[in-house]
Amino acid sequence: MSEAKIPLVDLKAQYLSLKPEMDVAIQGVLDTTSFILGPHVDTFEKRFAEFCGASHCIGMGNGTDATVLALEGLGVGRGDEVITVSHTFIATAEGISELGAIPVFVDVRDDSLLMDVSKVEAAITPRTKAIVPVHLYGQTVDMDPLLAIARKHGLKVMEDACQAHGAEYRGRRAGSMGDAATFSYYPGKNLGAYGDAGAVTTNDAKLADWIRRKRNHGRATKYTHDFVGRNSRMDGLQGAVLNVKLPHLDSWNASRRALAAQYDALLEPKGIRRVATQEGCLPVYHLYVIRIPNRDQVLARLTAAGIEAGIHYPVPLHLQKAYAELGMKQGDLPVTEAAAGEILSLPLWPGMDPEILKFVVASMGI
Ligand SMILES: Cc1ncc(COP(=O)(O)O)c(C=O)c1O
Repeated sequence: MSEAKIPLVDLKAQYLSLKPEMDVAIQGVLDTTSFILGPHVDTFEKRFAEFCGASHCIGMGNGTDATVLALEGLGVGRGDEVITVSHTFIATAEGISELGAIPVFVDVRDDSLLMDVSKVEAAITPRTKAIVPVHLYGQTVDMDPLLAIARKHGLKVMEDACQAHGAEYRGRRAGSMGDAATFSYYPGKNLGAYGDAGAVTTNDAKLADWIRRKRNHGRATKYTHDFVGRNSRMDGLQGAVLNVKLPHLDSWNASRRALAAQYDALLEPKGIRRVATQEGCLPVYHLYVIRIPNRDQVLARLTAAGIEAGIHYPVPLHLQKAYAELGMKQGDLPVTEAAAGEILSLPLWPGMDPEILKFVVASMGI
């Protein structure tokens, strides 16, 4: 954390609001020494699946591992192509690359900065195996047309819902619409653990069973292994923390929406462009993002005022050194590239004092 007086997200305030309950829950894990998987994780998996409207939830070590296992379970392997976006956190693409598959980046929409579904069909080749829509910033990709394309071409869909706990699309929640979905409970997420944690949700019982065993050394029983697995299990401590937080998530998301509306009301008269809400989506504002041509100047003013703002994300994946071998260049994804130079994430957390929000806007010098 920087020395900002106003952080991008205030994790301490949330802990203090839950302290009595949280301390009891954490002590409960220590008392029962259920440190890896165990009853707290079992309970969380059931409750989170229900929360998303999915049949199964498998708790894992982090969202990146969840992406790898979900895609592998959906049949993605070496040489396969997976269509996704370049305007996302690198973990989306890492999950593809770790399997020896190739991320194929399509551009995003200029209004929502989410996958431009109209660009997907042209990116399909005989090697395409899956599509990974990213529900970035807490709002959902336009899933109906995307699912129709996937069905038509026999492709799997894995939602990257790592920033979209509780977001809805036409009455369905992120994590319930594709063949599988991944979540991250990184501490700053809308539902954040006290360390790394993640999960896959799915309605496919066979896939859920495979991921459940894969995350735990391919175990059938303690020392019998049906296949080569790995270790990516959710800690009992994280399960307990998430169980305390989950009942608050809907009201926290509502608070984020209310604060976002207050930002909107202050920024609209100033002609500041916000990331538009995707039609049919009830967003959960994991991040509140504006687009501003003199972004770096505004960011410097905020920093000088002790306000932490963020850029999610400054360098698109197709222009990262890590993905140089894809051979993509500046100009290949014009909407993504233009956005990267203009986006700015402003401080937002549930229950944030609206006076802070006013101070942030006043400090932007716009
Ligand atoms: C869009 C997106 N995908 C994947 C991940 C990976 O999650 P984790 O950090 O838990 O590995 C994150 C979170 O950091 C994310 O924001």
